[in-house]
Amino acid sequence: MSHRDVELERVVASVVAPAADEGERRAEVSLRPATLRDFVGQRELVRHLEIVLGSAKTRKQTSDHLLFAGPPGLGKTSLASIVAFEMGSGLRITSGPVLSRPGDLAALLTDLQDGDVLFIDEIHRLSRAVEEVLYPAMEERRLDVMIGRGPSARSIRLDLPNFTLVGATTRTGLVAAPLRDRFGFIGQLDLYDVDELALIAQRSALLLSVTLGVEASFAIASRSRGTPRIANRLLRRVRDFAAVQGHDVIDTAVAIEALELFGVDEYGLDKIDRRILNLLCGQFAQQPIGLTTLAHACGEEPATIEDAYEPYLLREGLLIRTPRGRVGTEKAYRHLGIEPRTNGLF
Ligand SMILES: Nc1ncnc2c1ncn2[C@@H]1O[C@H](COP(=O)(O)OP(=O)(O)O)[C@@H](O)[C@H]1O
Ligand SMILES: [Mg+2]
Repeated sequence: MSHRDVELERVVASVVAPAADEGERRAEVSLRPATLRDFVGQRELVRHLEIVLGSAKTRKQTSDHLLFAGPPGLGKTSLASIVAFEMGSGLRITSGPVLSRPGDLAALLTDLQDGDVLFIDEIHRLSRAVEEVLYPAMEERRLDVMIGRGPSARSIRLDLPNFTLVGATTRTGLVAAPLRDRFGFIGQLDLYDVDELALIAQRSALLLSVTLGVEASFAIASRSRGTPRIANRLLRRVRDFAAVQGHDVIDTAVAIEALELFGVDEYGLDKIDRRILNLLCGQFAQQPIGLTTLAHACGEEPATIEDAYEPYLLREGLLIRTPRGRVGTEKAYRHLGIEPRTNGLF
């Protein structure tokens, strides 16, 4: 094997196991939009956010608490740091699963500086006990701490600095109603369209000092499952391929060759997407299938299937939800090259 082949294999392997490694994470941070102006798409949400933040700034107050909801990779974490940037405030980052005890949250809250943004990722995964600490903190900037035990125990009240809580979740329905009600603004992020993703790929190419043709950016965009994180990831893999092959410019032919090499199909479906469709159009072709059964058969959590996979398959018309369960569409059969069964479902 030549050196080039070895390099190519390394590059191909990295698309199979993306995201988790440290280099990928750093690359992602470096491509994050820093201001609302840099943030592509989600027009309505951005406009509302401009109003909420702008009004807080004129009042010289902290903004209302903000909740961002939507599938992974659509820009929730980016928005949290943009809010801090636009307000000129500090940013503290934590997540639902990390805050396992009420004391963890109390320690964080008492350590905040005036005006800080506190970002809690995966806020739907907070325990009930931790949520109880959060309610008075959000509502009245107040922390109730229990001191002592048994009959002599008493609660003391601490005043907290002004702060804005920014929460992120994959679905608003997962957030407990009392918590959801305490947010002054809930922003729902939707999958991006191809034009927006192409723009994101072009912007990222500039940041990575890569020459990317416009048409090539659309080839990447249309295979990104409506998701900026995936657009950036595909761009980096295409860049790796071009570098190994000695291309200075990424044109459409290079981009498509690279994407095909990585096994990215015309819809950008990944292994799990294809597994879902294969189950719906193969093993379960005759009947609608429930979410839990589908998730089991894919070896994934039902919530993961529902939040990370279904939105795109639904939008592309590859899957539909019926009252009795999920069904693969005619388009899905065609995409898989399977003869559709006439089961009266579509
Ligand atoms: N609207 C956007 N404009 C430009 N880049 C974006 C946008 N949304 C997301 N990204 C890119 O996608 C990556 C993932 O976004 P992130 O905020 O981490 O998503 P989430 O927190 O929703 O999973 C970021 O590194 C950023 O480069
Ligand atoms: Mg995030």
